[in-house]
Amino acid sequence: MLYPELFAALEQARWSLADDVPWDRFDPALLTDEQALTVKLNAITEWAALPATEMFLRDNQDDSDFSAFISVWFYEEQKHSLAMMEYLRRFRPALVPTEAELHAVRFPADPAPKLETLMLHFCGEVRLTQWYRRAAEWHQEPVIRAIYDLISRDEARHGGAYLKYMQQALARDPTAARAAFAKMGFLMAASGRSGKPLHPTNLHVSRALYPRDTIQSRLPDPGWLERWLDTQLCFDQACEDRVVGAILRNLSILLGQQFDDVRSLNRYRKTLGAAAPGVAVARA
Ligand SMILES: [Fe+2]
Ligand SMILES: [Fe+2]
Repeated sequence: MLYPELFAALEQARWSLADDVPWDRFDPALLTDEQALTVKLNAITEWAALPATEMFLRDNQDDSDFSAFISVWFYEEQKHSLAMMEYLRRFRPALVPTEAELHAVRFPADPAPKLETLMLHFCGEVRLTQWYRRAAEWHQEPVIRAIYDLISRDEARHGGAYLKYMQQALARDPTAARAAFAKMGFLMAASGRSGKPLHPTNLHVSRALYPRDTIQSRLPDPGWLERWLDTQLCFDQACEDRVVGAILRNLSILLGQQFDDVRSLNRYRKTLGAAAPGVAVARA
């Protein structure tokens, strides 16, 4: 069981919404309406941990250890949403998401192979860690900078926790785990090159609800994520290289292979006979 040690580690790292966010340092001159709006959209996106949790619990009914860990993950992700909403409540009340806007991202994903979902979420946490680090630099206002800094550290720890479950999966069923991790690792690492970096919140997850079956498609402004990355954060090639480098580095250690670039991971994936990843319908 990994849950007890992960619970202890995450509890030790936990920050307080009331005491560890420097609310009294808010400087109104350093927050634009444009920036505040991106906080609202990220608050709603973080709320998508709710349907993701429903998916995890449904698809891991045979794994009570992982399901128990999801209680901690769910708590921390909802707290991320709450931290951003609290920021808006204090400093831009007109932009606090409504309950209806939050509820709009709650819809069921199609059942999916759980090892692929695990790898997808590991990569998602790696990517989000870098997005939020960049957001902490882009904002000038000290309170939201501190919030993004706190949250990005949580996302990095979530990636570390998923990695432990990936190690466990490799020990239990190496063939299936290698194929799933190589397939989804390639999909996630290669996506930046196509100009549309993939994340669990912009993947299609439900055939019945297509095309409104991504979290991003349910937001008040479905096109905001690309704008946030391209023109606001300027999440450029050097930033993307940090995401891909982290994915390849961790996969190299995990699988005992040296992946210097996405091509070498793709070659490895082919030797396993892992199916080419389709992007039409993936999972959150
Ligand atoms: Fe989060
Ligand atoms: Fe996370």
